[in-house]
Amino acid sequence: MLPKHPSESLTTLTDLVLPSETNPLNNLFGGELLARMDRAASITARRHSRRVCVTASVNHVAFNRSIPLGSVVTIESKVSRSFKSSMEIFIDVWIEDRESGVRTKANEAIYTFVAVDDTGRPVEVAPILPETELEKERYDAALRRKQLSLVLAGKMKPDEATELKALFNS
Ligand SMILES: CC(C)(COP(=O)(O)OP(=O)(O)OC[C@H]1O[C@@H](n2cnc3c(N)ncnc32)[C@H](O)[C@@H]1OP(=O)(O)O)[C@@H](O)C(=O)NCCC(=O)NCCS
Repeated sequence: MLPKHPSESLTTLTDLVLPSETNPLNNLFGGELLARMDRAASITARRHSRRVCVTASVNHVAFNRSIPLGSVVTIESKVSRSFKSSMEIFIDVWIEDRESGVRTKANEAIYTFVAVDDTGRPVEVAPILPETELEKERYDAALRRKQLSLVLAGKMKPDEATELKALFNS
């Protein structure tokens, strides 16, 4: 299968925060942001694999900044690394200042998607070729994150997580 660049799976979702999507402090409800990120990541996974893709795991979510009612929220997602059938999707969340238009990073998240066939069985996806420095950084760390996710899910023995262990021993 021919390799693809992360930019080929870039997905950008821009939307407003409406009153029905906020918590009692008038900030975006966390579950609403998770759903929006899942939607963007799902499109990203599909663009990379051209297959039906399912969310296998939410590996990391950092709600660093609250997102007030009325904000314009932009979610950008790209495949940071693909393995056999799974893809790590890196998601950056930005908010836009109403007057200046300046964008500020509000949150980020990492999801894992798996490409499947019509019966739900995992199928192979194209390898990925990172281009920018940030893409290369995210690509390099993705194997350790996959190992951590599998260990936490009880699908890999800690002893088998070679690259992850090396991080703690270095
Ligand atoms: C995700 C799913 C397809 C994995 O199926 P499986 O039978 O466990 O298949 P495998 O063990 O071969 O795993 C497939 C890939 O997923 C990866 N994977 C599975 N669980 C993972 C986890 N918790 N974290 C990271 N990767 C994971 C495996 O490492 C493997 O990757 P690779 O092929 O790139 O090496 C299956 O569990 C599923 O369909 N889950 C439900 C998905 C769903 O409905 N999501 C929406 C939630 S409502």
